[in-house]
Amino acid sequence: MAAKTTVQSFGKLEGRTVNKFTITQGAGIQVSVINYGATVTSIIVPDKTGSPADVVLGFDTLEGYIRSGKHYFGAICGRYANRIANAAFGINGNEYHLSNNDGISCLHGGFKGFDKKYWDAEVLPEENGVRFSYRSLDDEEGFPGNVDISVTYIVAGNELHIKYAATTDKATPINITSHCYFNLSGGYENTILNHQLQLNAGNILEVDEKLIPTGNMKEVRNTTMDFTEVRKIGVSDDLSGEYDNSWVLKNSSGKLEKAVSLIHSETGIKMTVFTTQPSIHFYSGHFLDGNFMDTKKGKVYGKYAGLCLEAQHFPDSPNHPGFPNTILKPGEVYAEKTVYKFSNENIR
Ligand code: GLA
Repeated sequence: MAAKTTVQSFGKLEGRTVNKFTITQGAGIQVSVINYGATVTSIIVPDKTGSPADVVLGFDTLEGYIRSGKHYFGAICGRYANRIANAAFGINGNEYHLSNNDGISCLHGGFKGFDKKYWDAEVLPEENGVRFSYRSLDDEEGFPGNVDISVTYIVAGNELHIKYAATTDKATPINITSHCYFNLSGGYENTILNHQLQLNAGNILEVDEKLIPTGNMKEVRNTTMDFTEVRKIGVSDDLSGEYDNSWVLKNSSGKLEKAVSLIHSETGIKMTVFTTQPSIHFYSGHFLDGNFMDTKKGKVYGKYAGLCLEAQHFPDSPNHPGFPNTILKPGEVYAEKTVYKFSNENIR
């Protein structure tokens, strides 16, 4: 069956039309994205009985997304996803001070990060996708340089490919990720604690009480962070399932490598994540407080309603010379890719 993308109006942002683009390909998955935050609003996947299941949390209206801004539902996070300590860093002797929107840290690009911006869109009929572009101006939230970013969503059978690209006119840190909240039950289970997870990582980044990396890595073996073998997220009454940590991926070579498997036995839906990025930040949705309007089907999104698996560079890399580089220089091209592949298996 032919590939197609439909376009529907989804509201207005500062006088500009926000469209919803729905990308379909044959019997595969169907993905919808909007100009606001280059956000993924739905991923519809057939479950093991063939019924459609929407596996990401989201809202029926633009207002729903705007009002829930500090939770980043489905959005693209940048210019620097995750945290920068003390909202400051230096490059070549120049000190830069960023917005401190998370205590004294800068989180997901500041008060008005990429997730809250209007992105221009172009439908790509040949590739079966949509490309969003945005120009982040010099000094936006304190970051140096004018940066041109594109985020391309492509649907290929049962896979969603996300390609990130950026260029700059001054050296600047870049870290871009997608902040979808997944719930593979398709919305009929209120939490993700029953999901089974496997992370291709033997270490996490050690962090302080503000979730800022200390620079050390910690082995996950024999700890509650150990997802080297597939296991249930909420394992017992005393282990609730609260996770907000970065796992250091094995075989991280800049090539597309398998990073995660997430399985929901009842629907038989399995999601496998592949990425070129060096880490997965697994956030278990424990800050969701049930206080959201216009949720899909009027669902209450409370604690653990969905989980995020953010493929990204290490938090606070600009302040850790030992971490993989995140500084993009003029003349260079930032390029990363993440693939979410869905299958449905009869998993025991
Ligand atoms: C990220 C952070 C979390 C939280 C969520 C949004 O994933 O790591 O601490 O701020 O975003 O609620």
